Amino acid sequence: MINFDEIIDRKNNFSAKYDELTEKFGRNDLVPLWIADMDFKTAAPISEALQKRAMQGIFGYTSRPQTYFNTVGSWLMQRHDWSADPKLMLHTPGVVTALSLLIRTLTCPGDKIIIQPPVYYPFFDVIEKNHRILVENPLKNIAGHYEMDYEQLEGKAKAGAKLLLLCSPHNPVGRVWKKDELIKLGNICLKYNILIIADEIHCDITFNSHKHIPLASISEQFRQNTVTCLSPSKTFNLAGLQASIVVFPNAGLKNTFAKVLDTLDLQRNNCFSLIAVEAAYQHGTKWLETALNYIENNFKFINEFCAKYIPAIKPNYPEGTYLVLLDCRKLGLDKKQLHNFMVNKAHLALDDGCWFSNSLSQYVRLNAACPRPILKKALYQLADAAQQLNL
Ligand SMILES: Cc1ncc(COP(=O)(O)O)c(C=O)c1O
Repeated sequence: MINFDEIIDRKNNFSAKYDELTEKFGRNDLVPLWIADMDFKTAAPISEALQKRAMQGIFGYTSRPQTYFNTVGSWLMQRHDWSADPKLMLHTPGVVTALSLLIRTLTCPGDKIIIQPPVYYPFFDVIEKNHRILVENPLKNIAGHYEMDYEQLEGKAKAGAKLLLLCSPHNPVGRVWKKDELIKLGNICLKYNILIIADEIHCDITFNSHKHIPLASISEQFRQNTVTCLSPSKTFNLAGLQASIVVFPNAGLKNTFAKVLDTLDLQRNNCFSLIAVEAAYQHGTKWLETALNYIENNFKFINEFCAKYIPAIKPNYPEGTYLVLLDCRKLGLDKKQLHNFMVNKAHLALDDGCWFSNSLSQYVRLNAACPRPILKKALYQLADAAQQLNL
């Protein structure tokens, strides 16, 4: 079992989180807690399977065995009580690739697509860069607890939209949507004939009694109206292997999308993801439970630390995802000043809240999937910087 406190030197890891600091933040002496990958080693059975594969020394074109999607199906059943049909699954290199290609395949330029900000910022890009019309249905912030705005959604749905992109669990607000919330959303979409693309990449990262419910598992009607995107990449820290899974409601849609992937020659896994995905879903449970426990203790640490030493900053306590939203409104800084404060005073690389929505311009998002010594260092730097503000 790995030691989650261990600090892994990612200097020669060709990591976006570390190696793109200067490009993204203008300096490289920052504690990087931005982009959503973990600073933990993945589960040993995954690394061991990869090592074994590497030692074969042949890395030719791959052929995906049927066991691959069966293993995904077993995981979804075992972890989420969802009987997803392996025959309706396809591989894509990433969830964002899938979102973008699904939008191209299922809609036309000029079609309206609904999202619910604050939300993972590539949701905006995959719509706008594909020349579709972005329709925003902002979440309601009720004393720090985010909820969907069904009344507004109904109005927007009525005005006509082709698709809704659901983020479930929701990055960056950390909500794990409850069944009744998903039912309300799903019913509005059914009523107005809006297909839902459910990005459930964070499905395995939930805490306490919060349980992820796959939208497509709720009813046959919902299943028929949902395309689900998921991946073991967040769960097991495998983003660099580039493998995600799309679960379709029927063979027609699946075959249409398969042709798109074939045209782009994107249908194959690379030889390592082929091995890692199966190893993760077959042998990763114990590691995942330990990782979740560790991350949750990081949430506790962040909350206790801020309450004690930086009361002007209020962290949330995510129900799901390993991403903590820090409410910095009491610092009295605008978005540029807040960015400057985090980078040049606290020496932290965090996601600016405004990347997800203008409503979060006085917030930042902190990635808590890191060894506690790194987190401690980051928070002490933040406390020192905040003290200098003389609030
Ligand atoms: C909601 C959501 N979707 C997708 C991704 C990225 O997925 P991928 O790396 O498979 O494109 C992320 C990464 O943070 C995310 O938070």
